[in-house]
Amino acid sequence: MAPVSPLDLSQSRVLVLTGAGVSAESGLATFRDSNGLWEQHRVEDVATPAGFANDPELVWRFYSRRREQAKTVEPNAGHRAIAALEARLGDRFLLVTQNVDGLHQRAGSERVIEIHGSLFRTKCWACDLEPFHDTASYMAERLPICDRCEEAGRKALLRPDIVWFGEMLDPNHLHAIDSFLRRGHGTPLVFLAVGTSGAVWPAAGLVHQARGLGASTILVNAEAAENTAHFHRFLEGRSAEILPVLLGADGPASG
Ligand code: OAD
Repeated sequence: MAPVSPLDLSQSRVLVLTGAGVSAESGLATFRDSNGLWEQHRVEDVATPAGFANDPELVWRFYSRRREQAKTVEPNAGHRAIAALEARLGDRFLLVTQNVDGLHQRAGSERVIEIHGSLFRTKCWACDLEPFHDTASYMAERLPICDRCEEAGRKALLRPDIVWFGEMLDPNHLHAIDSFLRRGHGTPLVFLAVGTSGAVWPAAGLVHQARGLGASTILVNAEAAENTAHFHRFLEGRSAEILPVLLGADGPASG
């Protein structure tokens, strides 16, 4: 690991963006490390509306397995360091995660925007039923049906509340991120991206948005990301090792 010293964030506002790398040390696989395949499936088959329309059983089996995996792992020191920073900064902190595994919340993070949805929520494929908490496994033929649609005389499947490729992010989420970035009133702004390949937009573009508003930008990643060149600093290494030092409560950041 590159030598790391604690940041002094005691007077700053901090926007943290996380990706699959943060959960890697808890034992969850990242996305872009197996020739574009997720557990032997093509992304198009399991993470697009067309994939679901074509084979909902396959898609539900895939996400049911991911639910099971996420339930069996624990948050790591990287998740905990981020939660501890929020505890110190309060409203001057916002976490935007592309992860759908819920590990940040289990580590104690509260100000979290899950821009790609959650493995543990389910919604209707057809109607605007409010997404609901769901930890069930749908591994067999028994696919979940929307009760509300059924009452209205329609038959519609439920689906995972995940933002698939080709789908829009929630505009309320984008608005909340934008207003956090803009409401500085002179407080120094820091943008910290962790464990993300910088390959998926619009998350990959947050560094530009933050820089445009004068933020110091830092990337912590196991290897160079696609957008590394746009950060002021790149700390190469594992998030569970770097974050406890970088955000360390024992360094000048405590305040
Ligand atoms: P990726 O799998 O694309 O990238 C993970 C990054 O984390 C890679 O650059 C790894 O080098 C790095 N990494 C791995 N282990 C690490 C560790 N221990 N510490 C630090 N970095 C580590 O994952 P994301 O960038 O999150 O979207 O992928 C973005 C989105 O693409 C996902 O949210 C998902 C996928 O399509 C949806 O599901 C909608």
